[in-house]
Amino acid sequence: MHTILITGGAGFIGSHLTRLFVTKYPNYKIVNLDKLTYAGNLENLKDVENAPNYTFVKGDITDLSLLRELFVQYKFTGVLHCAAESHVDRSITDPLAFINTNVVGTASLLQAAKEGWNGQYDEKIFYHISTDEVYGSLGKEGFFYETTAYDPRSPYSASKASSDHIVRAFYHTYHFPVKISNCSNNYGPFHFPEKLIPLCIHNIINNKPLPIYGKGENVRDWLYVEDHVRAIDTIFHKGKIGETYNIGGHNEWTNIDLVKELCRQMDEKLGREKGTSEKLITYVTDRAGHDLRYAIDATKLKNELDWLPSLQFEEGLSKTIDWYLNNKEWLDEVTSGNYQKYYNKQYGV
Ligand code: NAD
Ligand code: TYD
Repeated sequence: MHTILITGGAGFIGSHLTRLFVTKYPNYKIVNLDKLTYAGNLENLKDVENAPNYTFVKGDITDLSLLRELFVQYKFTGVLHCAAESHVDRSITDPLAFINTNVVGTASLLQAAKEGWNGQYDEKIFYHISTDEVYGSLGKEGFFYETTAYDPRSPYSASKASSDHIVRAFYHTYHFPVKISNCSNNYGPFHFPEKLIPLCIHNIINNKPLPIYGKGENVRDWLYVEDHVRAIDTIFHKGKIGETYNIGGHNEWTNIDLVKELCRQMDEKLGREKGTSEKLITYVTDRAGHDLRYAIDATKLKNELDWLPSLQFEEGLSKTIDWYLNNKEWLDEVTSGNYQKYYNKQYGV
């Protein structure tokens, strides 16, 4: 029996995680604390918003007094910490927002949990959700292991690396009950269309250019979001305190090959002539400090906790495209208003 605080539960991964925990564990109480930034959207949780074991609280993880009150009010036994500023391009234009939420916010949450739990750490879990980007950039060979030295290179990854370090410092200094996972790039429903896959799906639907940074040769390791939250569930319940687990799909794609596969599938689904969407591909100025390649070795998770990804990429991509085509209202809603301002500034159109 748990009362769990999920932070950032209205975002992309957080909403899938919240849905999984609310539906799979009716005996757990789930409190979702989210600031509802541009990336947070309660529409992502429509299907569970009235569940008896679910509560939403609007608030900021940097607000220590609010966090203290929540720990007193709800007596949390677990924390699943997803809230973050998550987009690399935004971190290049506004690094302080990332340091504030990702570093100060995570430290505030740790402090509130430490005070709330007051040394009673039995059956308590503080689970910090992080990214493979903390490990830096790979060349053409090799993988990120849990033992790979941190080498973050963007303000986003540096802020996530800092937060990982602070979480580990609480474990080593206070024997605070932490778990950490570092995951590769996720994709799937409810992904905000500033990230590569949903941005391209949106632009293909609207016949707009598909902006590829540099030569499109950068490599990412893509994992379906439901596989990620299944891994988090496994680690939360079976992983060891103080341990870090890498999560990844063994599914590497160059950006250009991925976008071409997306174009191929979307031409078929939209009944467009083969090759139509590929004509929208436009090479644009590269991202500053663009990491060449990410690739996760998730052997520890497989060997110790028996987790493997369930979906092949082509199938996951097809499910994702279908979701966006069937949820145009969601897409129209999140791409109205401030999205246009962001887009014009980022892509100079
Ligand atoms: P997201 O940007 O879609 O969602 C972030 C959520 O956090 C939003 O709901 C937002 O409103 C909320 N939030 C932001 N600042 C907040 C604050 N100060 N207080 C309270 N809530 C706040 O992000 P995501 O893609 O779902 O990522 C979730 C977590 O997973 C992040 O920690 C990210 O670093 C990590 N991660 C993401 C990926 C990926 O591919 N998206 C991969 C690995 C790890
Ligand atoms: P993104 O989805 O932003 O994730 P991350 O930077 O965290 O890996 O980007 C994925 C890859 O796609 C990355 O190499 C940058 C590239 N990219 C483009 O080529 N064009 C775009 O418009 C965007 C948003 C990303």
